[in-house]
Amino acid sequence: MQRFLPVVFAVFAFPLFVTACAELKESRPILPVRAYERMIVGRLDAEYVGTDNCVAKCHKHDKITDDFLHSIHGEQIKPETRLPLVNCESCHGPGSLAIDELENNPELNDQLKKKCDTTKFLDIMNLPPQAQSLICLKCHAAASIPTLAHWNASPHALNDVSCFDCHKLHQGPQQKVSHEEMAELCYGCHPEVKAENQLFSHHPLREKKMACVDCHEVHGTTQEKLLRENTPKGTCTKCHMDKQGPFVFEHADVTENCANCHAPHGSVNNNLLNAAMPFLCLQCHGGHTLINIPGVKQLFTNRCTDCHSQVHGTDIPSPATTGSGTFRQ
Ligand code: HEC
Ligand code: HEC
Ligand code: HEC
Ligand code: HEC
Ligand code: HEC
Ligand code: HEC
Ligand code: HEC
Ligand code: HEC
Ligand code: HEC
Repeated sequence: MQRFLPVVFAVFAFPLFVTACAELKESRPILPVRAYERMIVGRLDAEYVGTDNCVAKCHKHDKITDDFLHSIHGEQIKPETRLPLVNCESCHGPGSLAIDELENNPELNDQLKKKCDTTKFLDIMNLPPQAQSLICLKCHAAASIPTLAHWNASPHALNDVSCFDCHKLHQGPQQKVSHEEMAELCYGCHPEVKAENQLFSHHPLREKKMACVDCHEVHGTTQEKLLRENTPKGTCTKCHMDKQGPFVFEHADVTENCANCHAPHGSVNNNLLNAAMPFLCLQCHGGHTLINIPGVKQLFTNRCTDCHSQVHGTDIPSPATTGSGTFRQ
């Protein structure tokens, strides 16, 4: 009997397996989103009333509503976009309780000094940061911006920064963070970067010719320090293509990370160097004399790049005696 066991198992288990799959196909959310939101509001009897019902009763939110209608979120109300509908209640939760006491006429409400009871909405500003982000993530999965696939493991999410901290959705129709205002937003939490960018040699961030997102992907990446592209070198050679290589004579693997020699945000030294010359080179090399040039006895401990001008690598052999790539030209 024993050797038939596997067969018996296969015969009986197969249909079971198939039915199990059929069950899985009809996966359902553990809790429907709307019921979940009502629970957060604390009242299961709150209902969705729609943007029109919500804002038509009070003028107080006229500017917010107007900006919203001109934003990409407001656009979605038009069915021809075929994208998920976004209205006030998508983020603020069901609103029936908040407008319960209001008359249908906004002028009358103004006269009677009746206001919508905002305490009956989701208290979104006081939710834990992760829950705040979930409000956005229910629509903005990785299909919306691929890098959100790395959001949960990003230093921002892990350090209690939420979508709300950067996206101020009611400041105007703009929902993205504009390149104009970006640096100031980031400096609020990263003052050291602001200080670095004030230094003599700097990437033109303060001149607004560049933005933080040219090098960083703030929603999360596979690289350290939220850097864009696949490698540290790639982050820089995207713009500085002449340093890309590969070269016949490489500077070993030191150029794999440009930050070995450069301070990307700013530096007191020329060319964004993270140490003054020749100390930059002397961190890894000693000075030397030139034994093969007769009569020259001088010990060279400075001006290294006067002779070794091709520190980023070159295809041209050194004219000096050994003929190797000493980065001379
Ligand atoms: C995509 C999400 C989202 C949508 C849609 C949305 N809001 Fe908001 N709302 C927020 C967030 C986040 C905050 C809190 C932070 C802030 O002020 O940006 C907020 C804050 C508010 C505030 C209080 C703060 C303030 O700026 O006065 C009001 C009032 C408000 N929203 C009204 C509305 C109205 C009216 C609509 C529809 C026309 C709407 N919201 C649609 C996300 C949204
Ligand atoms: C009900 C669904 C929904 C919710 C909730 C939602 N969004 Fe959106 N959002 C959209 C859609 C749809 C678009 C337009 C299509 C797109 O760009 O993916 C959009 C676009 C955006 C854009 C792009 C704007 C542009 O100019 O390209 C930003 C930024 C954004 N949303 C931020 C947020 C933030 C922050 C939250 C949370 C406070 C949020 N969204 C909540 C559906 C939603
Ligand atoms: C640290 C600040 C910061 C946080 C936190 C943040 N964003 Fe952004 N987001 C930005 C900036 C800056 C841009 C503009 C990127 C650009 O212009 O390339 C942006 C752009 C976007 C866009 C438009 C993407 C596109 O490619 O057009 C969407 C959608 C978006 N963010 C959604 C979210 C959501 C959802 C969250 C929370 C899970 C979030 N953001 C958290 C700063 C932030
Ligand atoms: C609300 C505060 C806040 C804002 C706004 C903010 N950040 Fe951050 N950021 C943090 C915190 C907290 C961390 C994690 C702790 C740390 O490394 O400083 C972090 C981490 C980072 C890191 C990774 C540091 C590392 O060591 O891995 C980068 C890069 C970064 N932020 C860039 C930005 C950029 C660019 C912006 C603007 C678009 C921005 N941040 C806006 C709070 C913020
Ligand atoms: C030219 C590319 C570039 C630009 C532009 C840039 N960064 Fe960076 N940033 C880097 C690199 C590279 C690192 C990693 C440095 C390292 O590993 O030593 C870094 C590191 C960081 C860190 C981690 C802390 C640190 O100093 O190591 C923060 C925070 C940060 N950047 C914020 C910003 C902000 C905010 C802006 C815009 C004002 C910005 N960066 C613009 C390339 C850039
Ligand atoms: C989005 C394009 C862009 C990226 C990405 C970029 N840079 Fe630059 N870089 C510039 C621009 C623009 C200048 C300024 C050129 C000028 O002022 O003539 C510059 C200047 C420099 C300089 C010379 C500074 C000086 O004082 O003359 C160095 C060194 C440098 N970048 C290194 C880097 C490194 C290292 C990285 C990667 C961490 C990087 N860059 C990423 C655009 C970029
Ligand atoms: C071994 C140190 C070292 C490394 C690593 C390094 N650099 Fe440089 N870089 C220098 C020095 C030194 C200068 C100044 C050149 C001079 O004085 O002639 C410089 C100058 C520059 C300049 C401005 C002048 C020019 O040649 O255009 C740019 C841009 C630059 N480097 C980009 C990069 C990039 C991108 C990487 C990474 C692929 C990188 N550097 C890696 C040492 C280095
Ligand atoms: C982070 C360490 C580091 C720094 C900083 C550095 N180098 Fe190098 N350098 C190396 C390594 C590693 C090698 C390859 C090992 C070897 O051949 O000795 C090398 C090789 C060289 C060579 C010999 C190349 C050959 O083919 O024989 C020269 C010349 C050189 N470096 C010059 C410089 C100059 C000039 C600077 C300053 C602008 C500098 N290096 C900064 C690590 C560094
Ligand atoms: C006057 C020109 C000159 C100056 C200045 C100079 N070098 Fe050289 N360096 C050379 C020549 C020439 C060689 C030998 C090349 C050869 O043999 O092919 C060389 C060789 C080297 C080598 C390769 C040595 C080896 O054993 O293969 C290194 C590393 C080096 N120099 C680093 C430096 C550093 C660091 C500085 C600055 C402190 C510096 N050099 C200053 C001309 C110079």
